[in-house]
Amino acid sequence: MAATPWLAFVCLASSAAIVLQARAQPDSKGFISIDCGLPGETGYVNDTTKLSYATDAGFIDAGTNHNISAEYITPSLVRSWYNVRSFPSPAGTRNCYTLRSIERGLKYLIRARFKYGNYDGLDRPPVFHLYVGVNFWTAVNVTRPDEAMLMEVIVVVPDDYVQVCLVNTGAGTPFISGIDLRPLKRTLYPQAIASQGLVLHARINFGPTDVSGIVKYPDDPHDRVWMPWANAADWAVISTTKKVQNIEHDLFDVPTAVMQTAIRSPNIWQGIEFLWDAVPQPNDASPGYIAIMHFSELQQLPSGAVREFYVNLNGKSWFSSGFRPDYLYTSATYISIPSRHSRYDVTINATANSTLPPIISAAEVYSVIPTTTLATDSQDVYAIMAIKAKYQVKKNWMGDPCVPENMSWDRLTCGYAIASPPRISTIDLSGNQLNGSIPSGLLKRIQDGSLSLRYGNNPNLCTSRSSCQPATTKRNGKLAIYISVPVALVVALILAMVLLFCFLKRRQHGSMNNSVKPQNETRRDAYGDSSLRLESRWFTYKELEIMTNNFQRVLGRGGFGYVYDDFLDDGTRVAVKLRSHSSNQGVKEFLAEAQILTRIHHKNLVSIIGYCNDGEYMALVYEYMSEGTLQEHIAEATVTEGVYLGDRDSELHLNLLKDWSTYTRDATRF
Ligand SMILES: *[C@@H]1O[C@H](CO)[C@@H](O)[C@H](O)[C@H]1NC(C)=O
Ligand SMILES: *[C@@H]1O[C@H](CO)[C@@H](O)[C@H](O)[C@H]1NC(C)=O
Ligand SMILES: *[C@@H]1O[C@H](CO)[C@@H](O)[C@H](O)[C@H]1NC(C)=O
Ligand SMILES: *[C@@H]1O[C@H](CO)[C@@H](O)[C@H](O)[C@H]1NC(C)=O
Ligand SMILES: *[C@@H]1O[C@H](CO)[C@@H](O)[C@H](O)[C@H]1NC(C)=O
Ligand SMILES: *[C@@H]1O[C@H](CO)[C@@H](O)[C@H](O)[C@H]1NC(C)=O
Ligand SMILES: *[C@@H]1O[C@H](CO)[C@@H](O)[C@H](O)[C@H]1NC(C)=O
Repeated sequence: MAATPWLAFVCLASSAAIVLQARAQPDSKGFISIDCGLPGETGYVNDTTKLSYATDAGFIDAGTNHNISAEYITPSLVRSWYNVRSFPSPAGTRNCYTLRSIERGLKYLIRARFKYGNYDGLDRPPVFHLYVGVNFWTAVNVTRPDEAMLMEVIVVVPDDYVQVCLVNTGAGTPFISGIDLRPLKRTLYPQAIASQGLVLHARINFGPTDVSGIVKYPDDPHDRVWMPWANAADWAVISTTKKVQNIEHDLFDVPTAVMQTAIRSPNIWQGIEFLWDAVPQPNDASPGYIAIMHFSELQQLPSGAVREFYVNLNGKSWFSSGFRPDYLYTSATYISIPSRHSRYDVTINATANSTLPPIISAAEVYSVIPTTTLATDSQDVYAIMAIKAKYQVKKNWMGDPCVPENMSWDRLTCGYAIASPPRISTIDLSGNQLNGSIPSGLLKRIQDGSLSLRYGNNPNLCTSRSSCQPATTKRNGKLAIYISVPVALVVALILAMVLLFCFLKRRQHGSMNNSVKPQNETRRDAYGDSSLRLESRWFTYKELEIMTNNFQRVLGRGGFGYVYDDFLDDGTRVAVKLRSHSSNQGVKEFLAEAQILTRIHHKNLVSIIGYCNDGEYMALVYEYMSEGTLQEHIAEATVTEGVYLGDRDSELHLNLLKDWSTYTRDATRF
């Protein structure tokens, strides 16, 4: 058949897409670096840092690219400042970047970069608001065109994606130069918790001899930026070339380059003092602040010598006793509970026992933001994102679908409950010139009463898979017309019944005294059962390619090759494992895995939804495991010939990992 050369072409195109898109994925360190406004789809690698910068094409579908004005481009200017993406009206009030394939529940440092550079020729720097997901992050007030601003937040991300949103406040057009995302170990920055994020106010490295020397990646493996404290004249500088070790279970992992320098007061009678003023925020006139001070003894003290000091905030000691830093080890004193003052005055002074003046190596100051606003249920978000992509809905479909309520997406109705994420209850797709089929996942949700969908007045929309074939002959065309009339009637009837059913069910729910279903159960209602029923579906390579949008989102690598993140056209989330040509696992192993997975049914093993064995191309389509770290499971799968575990309940994480070896041993025995 003539299909072979065509398929080969498709495959070339898709492997090229993998190479390009790979940069839109977190790299091996889990970093995502975006150069906003860079034209095209090809990013670049910085020669010095070896960090890859992606274009923002795969992260946002609104806004326009601009170069900053030539007068602001100097020879030393870092490339990522050259261009911006801006969001002039009629772009919506809120425009969001979506960073995917990250780890649910993990802590991330997210940095947004801004340099106006008179890109619009108006010489009018704007003021706008920045959100992390649905929570207010900070106001961005660009005061000078040449200013390079870094906004940073440390947050626990509740889903496996996170959005960075720019909100127009009527004070100029929002724009952005870049976004960086860096994973942090869970134990770092204990003040950053699910309900509270930390917004960077200052991060200072005291005492570098070269005051232009900023410590950053790769000296700081977390890519924090440590600004040198330039006012050296008032203090003596001490330093060492020896390595300063992080203590075990270090909460801040300050790099040795930062800890190797410190300042000390000129004599034992004088203290070190620094202060900052609270910056009122639009949503909080008096935000809370926390501070972290980093210390290490850099001098081998002669016997009898003591360096001991108090750390005081606004005249009150943080500890009743004095503090003695350890020789060449990091230590920190920090505020756990944010305090609210208009001015914060930190003094460090020697105790009566001390024979040496106080020192300090580094300090960090953060304001806190509540991150308690709940975003829309993530399964609903995936489903509606799939619809958005499938029907290429432009409208104001940006950011979270339901939150905040007054910015919820056009044509969606959301249900809001106390203490559980909002859910989408009605989607109105009527009168839209939509074609193709109604996603069967949506039809299922209509049947189980969890969703109502309005799709009238879309003459080209079919309501069942079989009636969606393009009319190839006259006869088919006629048939389609004959069928479409009764279908419309039947659909109207069914819809009426469904609405009635929903209404009754809702009332029932209401009388059940706000009982909140566990997330898991809800998910199973909505998708779990339906995906199981689709078991062993046959996919062509072309179908997979369309489904995965050219294999855009790599989840990881297993024994067979890459694993991609996809949606079936019904919005069900799946992982597609495509056998790579370089895979040393052959056809036999592939079929064996397919068989194992169709034969084993265990709640801790992922279900297989379908497979593809199309010429040279082989793929397995699994149910996507939204909880836990799929990446990890896939890595483990390599060891066990492709069987991997999803853990459905994150609380069970440890148990499942313990159980894992038993299950895989069982599985590989087949
Ligand atoms: C920005 O500058 C580059 C290189 O100078 C040029 O190729 C590109 O077309 C410019 N883009 C815009 C939007 O003006
Ligand atoms: C690469 O990164 C380094 C360090 O941040 C920076 O100094 C340099 O200008 C960057 N290179 C380019 C071409 O932007
Ligand atoms: C932005 O900053 C300027 C200069 O500091 C200040 O005058 C102005 O009030 C600020 N605007 C907003 C909206 O905060
Ligand atoms: C140092 O701080 C302590 C605690 O705040 C205070 O009692 C003491 O007077 C201070 N000493 C000097 C010399 O400032
Ligand atoms: C001074 O040292 C003694 C003995 O080590 C200790 O008991 C006392 O608490 C110290 N005083 C201060 C102010 O830290
Ligand atoms: C939404 O409501 C908030 C406060 O309730 C208000 O500050 C904001 O301006 C509103 N946004 C829009 C787009 O109406
Ligand atoms: C559906 O509409 C899109 C865009 O309008 C078009 O590209 C596509 O060919 C149409 N599909 C069918 C089956 O008519």
